[in-house]
Amino acid sequence: MTLRDLWEAQAAQWIAWARAPGHDSFWRFHRDQFLQIVPPPGRRTVDIGCGEGRLARHLKGLGHHVIGVDASPSLAAAAREADPAMDIRLADAAALPLEDGSADLAIAFMSLQDVDDMPAAVREAARVLEPGGRFCMAIVHPINSAGRFESEAADAPFTIKGDYLRAFDYADTIERNGLPMTFHSRHRPLESFSLALEGAGLTVEALREPRVPDHAVKSERSRRWQRVPLFLHLRARRP
Ligand SMILES: C[S@@+](CC[C@H](N)C(=O)[O-])C[C@H]1O[C@@H](n2cnc3c(N)ncnc32)[C@H](O)[C@@H]1O
Repeated sequence: MTLRDLWEAQAAQWIAWARAPGHDSFWRFHRDQFLQIVPPPGRRTVDIGCGEGRLARHLKGLGHHVIGVDASPSLAAAAREADPAMDIRLADAAALPLEDGSADLAIAFMSLQDVDDMPAAVREAARVLEPGGRFCMAIVHPINSAGRFESEAADAPFTIKGDYLRAFDYADTIERNGLPMTFHSRHRPLESFSLALEGAGLTVEALREPRVPDHAVKSERSRRWQRVPLFLHLRARRP
């Protein structure tokens, strides 16, 4: 099964998970950390892998003219239903249904670790950008997907038992507050993202390894995520 099909199979669980207020890091800190590297609204913002549309709706509220794209029919339908006025397209990130140079901002928030063909998705993001346009992405940090903490203690060792430099698929099944979710993703080393950006002709402008902010640390054990980054944020520019 492709990652794309696996996300469609998880669509109902993802809608419940993503929409529960305060349930995941998006609501608690991640969205606002990411927005620190996102340029102000321009003529068109494309949200690649928009899912059920929570970031697209927030960006619209900030004044962005958003087109959302997702490959899951159920998630694209949910995004449309939540805001019927929003332009949501059912398409693969590797073949965006948009004209060359038709956007000044492309965003891939927590989707590139979940797409089957990441280099093609980055190439497509670059293609739809006008010269000077920006590409902003957030992913599971490759160090996070490569390894794990040995326990939940704040000072637990973090170990990589396998091979950081090799790409591999993995599934994380979590149940929190009665909401089950399986995240289907592909670990790729940081270098593969840089190679994709270089190949697409994009120049990195900013890279962040945000830590979980103090206000979001709910217990002593979540302090371990202040030592190792959960996510990686990056902004690149089409020259
Ligand atoms: C972790 S969810 C993130 C959704 C949204 N950006 C958010 O943060 O709420 C990953 C999304 O990537 C989408 N996705 C996976 N493969 C894709 C592909 N090949 N093309 C477009 N979207 C894809 C999934 O359907 C899912 O909506």
